[in-house]
Amino acid sequence: MQTLHLTHNENDIQTAGKILSEGGLVAIPTETVYGLAANALDGAAVAKIFAAKGRPMDNPLIVHIADFSDMERFSLVREIPEAAYRLAATFWPGPLTIIMKKGSAVPDAVSAGLDTVAIRFPAHPLAQAVIRAAGVPLAAPSANLSGSPSPTSAKHVLHDMDGKIDAVLDGGLCAVGLESTVITLVTEVPRVLRPGGVTPEMLSEALGEVEIDDAVIHQLPEGAKAASPGMKYKHYAPKANVILLKCGDGDFIDYVNRSAGRGVAALCCDEDLPLLHNVKAISLGRRGDYGAQAHNLFDSLRRIDGYGDVVTVFSRLPSPDGVGLAVYNRLIRAAGFEVIDLEQS
Ligand code: TXA
Ligand code: MG
Repeated sequence: MQTLHLTHNENDIQTAGKILSEGGLVAIPTETVYGLAANALDGAAVAKIFAAKGRPMDNPLIVHIADFSDMERFSLVREIPEAAYRLAATFWPGPLTIIMKKGSAVPDAVSAGLDTVAIRFPAHPLAQAVIRAAGVPLAAPSANLSGSPSPTSAKHVLHDMDGKIDAVLDGGLCAVGLESTVITLVTEVPRVLRPGGVTPEMLSEALGEVEIDDAVIHQLPEGAKAASPGMKYKHYAPKANVILLKCGDGDFIDYVNRSAGRGVAALCCDEDLPLLHNVKAISLGRRGDYGAQAHNLFDSLRRIDGYGDVVTVFSRLPSPDGVGLAVYNRLIRAAGFEVIDLEQS
């Protein structure tokens, strides 16, 4: 299959809409990461997403809408809880996904057999324009091969998906850089299943009490059932082995410099760059600037693979506050939960 390269002109947006309405796959930009979209109401189209990504069939997809009213219009949810109105008023359109009881029109392929559905109203104008051009809501996971870092540029998408999908619509770099925050409203207390740009603090302000699912920070015990199936897989990982160091700033520099040599890289902060020697060092941004680190994380993980000869990557365990929680969640999965605690040794 030849993958079409589309851009943001009206003609290309209509082409993307037509491919989607006919059951094809188009990668589209959103403010978080690129999504691999298909008609969410068409089970056969959605099945192609799983095949193209190599995604486990038990991992459900997010349904993207271009207006709040789409949820009722397309029978996507059984009912809209009061909390969803409050969240939507503050965070939609934007990087927040809300899980509700699923409506009659959602194929099993989308929800992976669960009785719930994840809904997001993205803020990116191109994402909205393509949804409107398609005339249907779009199911879209991140447009990467399953297990790889999510794509934040059309180049990343093509690296993984060229020849496997009908088209990619190039909208430049994604602003947030990490996937949306996922919150479920089907638990007694609303619960964050995946942290993102909308932080637990922001959610509490809108909703009151909010819980954070254990799987956000901790590794699920063998055989445990994940509230969000995506959280149980090793994810976001480059081919090199990522190891997180739990330590102060000086100890980080010392440890990495002592380990330096062929095959060693560091994902670090701007302030570290002049202090690290004989390692391939990629900065995620200024120390403590988790917005910048979120924006740069996936591109940096992919750049490490681009070097070709990196075996081990060291990074700091981020502080799990605010957007730092989202960076923490992605890095610890990229590391397969491998943390060296220098404070204990
Ligand atoms: O920012 C984003 O959310 C991007 C863009 C494209 O919108 N999409 C994205 O999709 O990250 P994906 O498939 O890579 O991640 C969706 C996550 C997975 O962890 C999945 O298990 C979870 O949401 N999820 C989807 N539906 C769910 C449901 N009904 N119940 C629990 N978790 C669900
Ligand atoms: Mg993904």
